Amino acid sequence: MLKSESPSYRAADENWDLTNGEDKAIESALDQIDREVEEAALRKDRLALEDAVSKYSHFITQRGSPRAMYGTAVALDKMAELEKSNRILEQSIDAYHRVLKAKDVPDKLYSVAADRCVALAQFRGWYNKAVEVTKEIVARFPTSLASMNKLGTIFLMLGNNAEASGTFRKALKLDPSSGYAKAHLGFALKQMSVVAAQEDEALDAQQMVQKRAVLEEAVQLFKEGIATRDEGVLDGRFFFHLGDALQRLGRRSEADEVYKEAAELGMIPSFWQRSLYNVNGLRSKPIWTPTEIGLEMELDTLKMNWEAIKWEALEILGTNERGDFVPEGESLKDTGFWAQFELFRQGQEVADNCARAPVTCGLIRAIPEVAGNRRGQVKFSVMKSGTHVHPHSGPTNCRLRGHLGLYVPQDAIGPSTRLRVADQYLEWRDGGMFIFDDSFDHEVWYSSTQNEPRVVLIFDIWHPDLSPELKRTLPAI
Ligand code: OGA
Ligand code: MN
Repeated sequence: MLKSESPSYRAADENWDLTNGEDKAIESALDQIDREVEEAALRKDRLALEDAVSKYSHFITQRGSPRAMYGTAVALDKMAELEKSNRILEQSIDAYHRVLKAKDVPDKLYSVAADRCVALAQFRGWYNKAVEVTKEIVARFPTSLASMNKLGTIFLMLGNNAEASGTFRKALKLDPSSGYAKAHLGFALKQMSVVAAQEDEALDAQQMVQKRAVLEEAVQLFKEGIATRDEGVLDGRFFFHLGDALQRLGRRSEADEVYKEAAELGMIPSFWQRSLYNVNGLRSKPIWTPTEIGLEMELDTLKMNWEAIKWEALEILGTNERGDFVPEGESLKDTGFWAQFELFRQGQEVADNCARAPVTCGLIRAIPEVAGNRRGQVKFSVMKSGTHVHPHSGPTNCRLRGHLGLYVPQDAIGPSTRLRVADQYLEWRDGGMFIFDDSFDHEVWYSSTQNEPRVVLIFDIWHPDLSPELKRTLPAI
């Protein structure tokens, strides 16, 4: 259960102003039902909870009592918890929401009901509902920084960076020193600038200047926000994206400072290793051999079959009018063209794609450490000449990433064609294989004087130090 505990409703012994003037007349009756709800929840007595709901409903129909509405919501909340029932949870969300619409609701009752309503809506994945209710809270308490920050955070969860940034700007009007608002505004702006840079293929000079300005503002906000050490700002994601923004601006030495600080604070595993979803205690180094992983034979078989794999990849590439190779979607590419054809994702075959690469998928299936890797992928990767991929790092330390060279033009050798991982360099060869840990910072360049593309097979192996138990239970990435 991710959700926080349902509120403990103790109007009787806490000095809460939950009761409006009209409800005062029935206050002791309401207190009594509230106590019954508490006790029924402790006894896990569903019938008693239903009973309380019908007692409250009497006061709702008779007098429109907001406190009885709230009591109903709490009872349903406890019932949903007891029964692990989404249907009752939804009823509880609606019941909390009704409190907000009631007549003459005291501020305190409003806040408690609204906060719980939003928390449950988020838990249920009803982000639009969470936005709707939070907007109502903001309208009622227009000077509440916490509510404005909450609204911005929900917009971020929805991936609505434009609304998020507008909302965090309003939060900063309320309190120009809010570190929470600064760091989150930085995050929203950075996402917008990076996504926009990806979408418009050819930016004109003025747009480039604008994108840079947004990124620069993001950097400033991240820095100021993190420096406040406010609750919620010491988050690996802020360091990660601050470093990335600085790198994209060409401010490499400042980026290095950020990664150093992030490593010192334990936000990332080390200066070079920058993943955010980690298992402690795994050996970590940028480059690995098949023997160290314990898959010498398996990976040798894969390598020996490189030509069969290559023909499957080239066949698919040759009929790519259908858009089978999908351009990289994480805004990592700086210049050029980089696309992928996915065969396995999160330990599952992509069935339609495997049907078109049966030999490759058969070979992969024979290596359960790859085929069953729920924190990785298997894919063909194509790059056109003139491609540069920004420095980046994968999300998790639980995998090691293999590249098998399939189509590597002879002229494509040297500093303009290689992969940097940490402070070391790797090069592709036809039928050649290397294995690196992609949670370490890495960067890719590719160019060919003959204007030929490069094609490789990328495959992720479970980290050899993970226990069978963890491989079974870690959430997929
Ligand atoms: C990677 C990566 C790009 C490529 O494998 O993680 O960024 O296709 N590689 O070479
Ligand atoms: Mn990568």
